[in-house]
Amino acid sequence: MPHTPHPDRPAADPVAERLRALPEDFVWGAATSAYQIEGAVAEDGRGPSIWDTFSRLPGRVAGGDTGDVACDHYHRWREDLGLLRELGVGAYRFSLAWPRVLPHGDGPVNEPGLAFYDRLTDALLEAGITPWPTLYHWDLPQALQDRGGWPHRDTAEHFAAYAALVADRLGDRVTHWATLNEPLCSAWIGHYEGRMAPGSTDMAAAVRAAFHLHLGHGLAVQALRAAVPGARIGIVNNLTHCEPGSDSDADVAAARRADGHTNRWWMDPLHGRGYPEDMVRLYGTEPPVRADDLETVAAPLDWLGLNYYFRSVTHDDPRGPLPHARPAAPPAGARLTGMDWEVHAEGLTRTLLRMTEDYGARRILVTENGAAYPDTVGPDGQVHDPERTRYLEEHLAACARAVERGVPLAGYFAWSLLDNFEWAYGYAQRFGLVHVDYATQRRTVKSSGRRYADLVRTHRARHRPAA
Ligand code: IFM
Repeated sequence: MPHTPHPDRPAADPVAERLRALPEDFVWGAATSAYQIEGAVAEDGRGPSIWDTFSRLPGRVAGGDTGDVACDHYHRWREDLGLLRELGVGAYRFSLAWPRVLPHGDGPVNEPGLAFYDRLTDALLEAGITPWPTLYHWDLPQALQDRGGWPHRDTAEHFAAYAALVADRLGDRVTHWATLNEPLCSAWIGHYEGRMAPGSTDMAAAVRAAFHLHLGHGLAVQALRAAVPGARIGIVNNLTHCEPGSDSDADVAAARRADGHTNRWWMDPLHGRGYPEDMVRLYGTEPPVRADDLETVAAPLDWLGLNYYFRSVTHDDPRGPLPHARPAAPPAGARLTGMDWEVHAEGLTRTLLRMTEDYGARRILVTENGAAYPDTVGPDGQVHDPERTRYLEEHLAACARAVERGVPLAGYFAWSLLDNFEWAYGYAQRFGLVHVDYATQRRTVKSSGRRYADLVRTHRARHRPAA
């Protein structure tokens, strides 16, 4: 039956109509991460992280950019909180910088560092915005890297101790916790491809790192549960829908390997299935699992976080890097973002369905989704970014389709609140709903940000009982 708009509500908006399928208590959010926005890398006792080191290595980051200043959020966080309010989001996903809290990775806590997140938490709550902190978004304390980093088991144990102390401090106010962000990037890109910190190119080290990230996650779950009664704990993975580039058996097998590398390796152990044997054989190295470790890794979770940007279409590439699956050229007419990533919203629906059907997820949140475009402030002082608006609308509609097909989707966090330090791309790629002029640190809400605010408002209004 066609929906009749309430007389006091906004006129028909086809995208907003699609979003009616999202649940009433849907979590609407925006996301950032510490190294990408905070700056102030040497302030108030923060220790160096592997990204401080990596970004200083010649040729590793476009333009020689570093996170030294980034969006200067460490000083401008109140203004950024104002932006969250302006967008009307009910939740903010941010990460804590481990080296700000523990400059050496372990040992004495750096009180001013922890106090920063304490103030942010209080201010968010006062503003009616629920904090969704992530404990690790790639900025390992350099001191721990110097002692072996994620390929070493100790790092997992240090991570759990860090989780415990953060939980002890914020747990009276924070309910929703994510342990890790995209461990795939830390392990595969940081230790095998070498395009991210720490920049090594050793698959055996990458497999060890992957396992210790999983173990660190499991140990952190235990620590959080012990410290925070009623904590709602999840992990954030970047997963995608993998397709073969043709019907050939070789390409079908390549897509299966891409799926193992991207999805199964990260999801199976969390669900008590251990590491996929085909992938262990392919990598030629066993994760250093000890008795009971897999049980620790598979600790029950309250929610799963999905970061989705693009689908994966691959061809067999026996001589190429692991997993011997080369990305196919995008189909003719495909829309690409500034990162050359194909816009493919249906891949999001499919990935959400996969998590539900194959892994029995009971609560999922899209913890990141967004697109980079080369935005500029126009002569009217505005940032017009219709491509990002379309990207957001299509992906939100993809979320609604997933809900209609039974996915227990509970929320969506746009990536990102602000333009920020896009890792090896430096400041050249802009993902924000809010434009940042890095020379002046002036923030300008983009038209996509205003559209997002509009959709959030409309969805809320629909569920508010009519007076
Ligand atoms: O900017 C990153 C973020 O840190 C992790 N997920 C992907 C984003 C875009 O590349």
